[in-house]
Parts: sequence; C-alpha cells; structure tokens
Amino acid sequence: MKVNSKIVTLEDLNKIASKIVQTYNKTNKILVIGLIGDLGSGKTTLVKEIAKQLNVNQPIISPTFIIDREYKLKNNNIMHHIDLYRLETETELNEIITEGLIQNHNLILIEWYDRFSSYLDKLFDRNDVKLLKVYFEHYGEFERVIKIVYENTIIKHKPNDNSNQ
Ligand SMILES: Nc1ncnc2c1ncn2[C@@H]1O[C@H](COP(=O)(O)OP(=O)(O)OP(=O)(O)O)[C@@H](O)[C@H]1O
Ligand SMILES: [Mg+2]
Repeated sequence: MKVNSKIVTLEDLNKIASKIVQTYNKTNKILVIGLIGDLGSGKTTLVKEIAKQLNVNQPIISPTFIIDREYKLKNNNIMHHIDLYRLETETELNEIITEGLIQNHNLILIEWYDRFSSYLDKLFDRNDVKLLKVYFEHYGEFERVIKIVYENTIIKHKPNDNSNQ
C-alpha cells in the first residue's frame, strides 16, 4: 500500500483535480468520488476545479439544498454533484442515487459520503463502478491535507512533491 501526503493550497488544487480527471478519462467505468471532510474543508472547491478541467461551462453551485445537481459532459455523460449533508435517511438516499445515475460513463461526486459510507460502499460495489475517496483536513487557514484512497492503494501527496504521481 502506497502512502504519500500533500499539503495543498488553493493554487495546488488543480493538480489534485487533474489526477482525478485523468482517472475518469482512463476508465470506461462510472467513476464515483466520495468527498470526505469537515465543513469548509474544500470539497466543493475541488468539484469546481474538476468541472473546469472537464470543460463544464455552467457555474457549479453547492448542491446543499437541491441535493443533486447535474452537468452535461462529453458523449451524453453526466456529472452528478451530490451533497448528503442535509439527508436524514437511507430511504431518502435511495430516491436520489437511483439506477438512472449509475450508468454510462457518468461521474458522480458525493460530498459528505461518510454520512452513509456503509450503504454507499455496498451500493457501489459492482463491476461497472470505480470508487475513489478523497479525504480533506484543515491545515492552517490557507492549506488542506488531501488524501486520495484508490482501489486499496492510498495516494497521499507529499508537500513539495511535484512528481504528479
Ligand atoms: N486547498 C485549499 N486551500 C486553501 N483554502 C481552500 C482550499 N480548498 C478550499 N479552500 C477554501 O475553503 C473554503 C470552503 O471551501 P468549500 O466550500 O469547498 O468547502 P466544503 O468542504 O465544500 O464545505 P461544506 O461542507 O460546507 O460543503 C473556501 O473559502 C475555499 O476557498
Ligand atoms: Mg460543499
């Protein structure tokens, strides 16, 4: 298991986004990204950077009240930006994350994934889904520690490590 860590400023966030976009472009599967971290730790900000790199033209608005916002990608694929912060029950979750979402080469980004981890881990344990988790921690006012956990390999990015691994 590989472990690296990266302390990330806003300016570095494009590198993390670029890793994720590369993963999305390389796979034929549906890519699900669980975004895990406290209030204000940078989940939506990373989604915005990913959307920018995928040439999404619409503004990314935090889906806290709407729960699921959809953005068109190439080839009729859809980026779903979901926020589970206000969701109470698995029944509600079941109505939001339907089979209709888990199809084609969609990209599904889920803030507050950890509120329903065990349910979602089971839901996404299927051959046509690649699941990746990104953990955010505050590190002072202007930095975050970001850790990507990807198929039993932990890729944490090192400070000053520009190797783009
Ligand atoms: N890597 C970073 N380094 C420094 N500041 C950051 C970083 N990422 C985000 N921020 C700043 O942190 C603030 C909160 O970010 P954001 O809204 O993305 O958090 P969030 O995790 O989505 O919060 P919530 O749980 O409320 O949805 C913003 O002002 C943003 O500019
Ligand atoms: Mg957010």
